[in-house]
Amino acid sequence: MTHEPIALRATGITKSFGPVRALRGVELELRSGEVTALMGENGAGKSTLLKILNGDFRPDDGVLSIDGVPTVFGDPADSRAAGLRVIAQEPEIIAAVSVAENIFVGSLGSVAYNRKALLRRTRDELKRWGFDRTIRAESLGSELSPAQRQIVEIMRAVVSKPRIICFDEPTSSLGDDEVTLLFALIRQLQAEGIAVAYVSHRMGEIFKLADRITVLRDGSFVGTQLVAETNHDELVRMMVGRDLSQFFHREPAPLGKTVLELRNVGNQYVDGIDLTVRAGEVVGIAGLVGAGRSELMKTIAGDYPIASGEIVVDDRVWRIRQPADSIRAGIGFAPEERKAEALLLQRSVRDNAALVVLRTLSRWIFVSSRAERALAKTYIDRLRIRTPSAEQLVGNLSGGNQQKVVLARWLATAPKVLLLDEPTRGIDVGAKSEIYAIIDELAHQGVAVIVVSSELPEVLGVSDRIYVMAAGRISGELTRSEASEERILALAMDEDVAA
Ligand SMILES: Nc1ncnc2c1ncn2[C@@H]1O[C@H](COP(=O)(O)OP(=O)(O)OP(=O)(O)O)[C@@H](O)[C@H]1O
Ligand SMILES: [Mg+2]
Repeated sequence: MTHEPIALRATGITKSFGPVRALRGVELELRSGEVTALMGENGAGKSTLLKILNGDFRPDDGVLSIDGVPTVFGDPADSRAAGLRVIAQEPEIIAAVSVAENIFVGSLGSVAYNRKALLRRTRDELKRWGFDRTIRAESLGSELSPAQRQIVEIMRAVVSKPRIICFDEPTSSLGDDEVTLLFALIRQLQAEGIAVAYVSHRMGEIFKLADRITVLRDGSFVGTQLVAETNHDELVRMMVGRDLSQFFHREPAPLGKTVLELRNVGNQYVDGIDLTVRAGEVVGIAGLVGAGRSELMKTIAGDYPIASGEIVVDDRVWRIRQPADSIRAGIGFAPEERKAEALLLQRSVRDNAALVVLRTLSRWIFVSSRAERALAKTYIDRLRIRTPSAEQLVGNLSGGNQQKVVLARWLATAPKVLLLDEPTRGIDVGAKSEIYAIIDELAHQGVAVIVVSSELPEVLGVSDRIYVMAAGRISGELTRSEASEERILALAMDEDVAA
């Protein structure tokens, strides 16, 4: 395995954005038929390195060689011509055209194409790579869930038959099922002799998939290890520069009265939802992608009005028809698609962190107090948000650091009810355990917390009680002591089995 030919070698790669040194002297080797993981904290420089490989940026210094030949990529077309494809952290999907056209965009060329043939070809490719049950070739870009968008982005790269393929956090929006399919796809790429680079914050994935691991810290190259010769703790030390405890142990808070209650709530997305959360309780919601977990959160938050049933907060029935209503009821909501829904990319980190955003249908209203600002600042420090200054535009932060800014804001608000949809998606190992600790503190302050997560160990670790959803309904409820990965999965598949 160690003697596979080196398809790509990067040496001494250096790149600055104004005063920010994103990369300095970074080394990377990608070998044919091997998976090389790229790890590091949020802001370490992983996406920047991949963008250089994609020809988006030219390095200030350093050499890139393909098959031993030094190369300069002037633009992404050069990178593609060299057989390289980079799957970006944020998928770019054209809303108005079909999945088929989205996948083959760029490879259609100027040749007039036959729609039927394109759809057939797309179905074949989806089938070949195992995603024929996940996406339909004729769906429009605008109809796709985050997971489906990610898969379209991956298919787009795969169908162009690259020799080197780089994934930037491909699983952050995928559920367990799709992750399994993606891993099978990567194994197939590997068997075909393709060199794979893989960025992820999830240790479990790295140990399953990778042959070697390259670690970056603050833009510098820390080292490359064979997976077989390293372990979790060593990698954490390499990434963070200190030891971290491996597992978070939640200290359940004393439970108060029921703060949030849903009685037979239904709309076009969810059906017959009965759910309660008590003060000081952390309730997890598990389920497969498409089970309706995010839809349920958006229903409680007023994005999707309810058609039947009642939402009760503090013994009072609230008519929640829009986000402003849920905020008045004392509900805070950090949505899954934080970047699109919650961040002001053209404002500074300071502004974003200080604002309590009242989400209304038509506009943004900002309220902020000095106390909130101070609290937000504390969380920014605790979550280790990597930014050159509080004045930096949020749009220039790395993906994970943007997530941290939104979370810091919500965690600092301490509403009566806090809804967190995939709170650690894209967040590095150090900040993850800090987020669990903050959730724990909020519960001890009497906040009723709901956490939606696709990562089972996370749901199990953080929740006092777990609801499992399938096909828009609650298919089961488990206490902390009853819950296990197997029982959650069995309930999550409930409707599939019945169907
Ligand atoms: N266009 C830009 N302008 C200014 N700074 C930038 C720009 N792009 C990236 N940076 C900075 O470069 C550094 C590295 O960012 P990068 O996106 O490569 O991190 P990352 O390792 O991918 O992090 P994450 O895990 O959060 O995705 C960060 O400090 C980031 O703020
Ligand atoms: Mg990144």
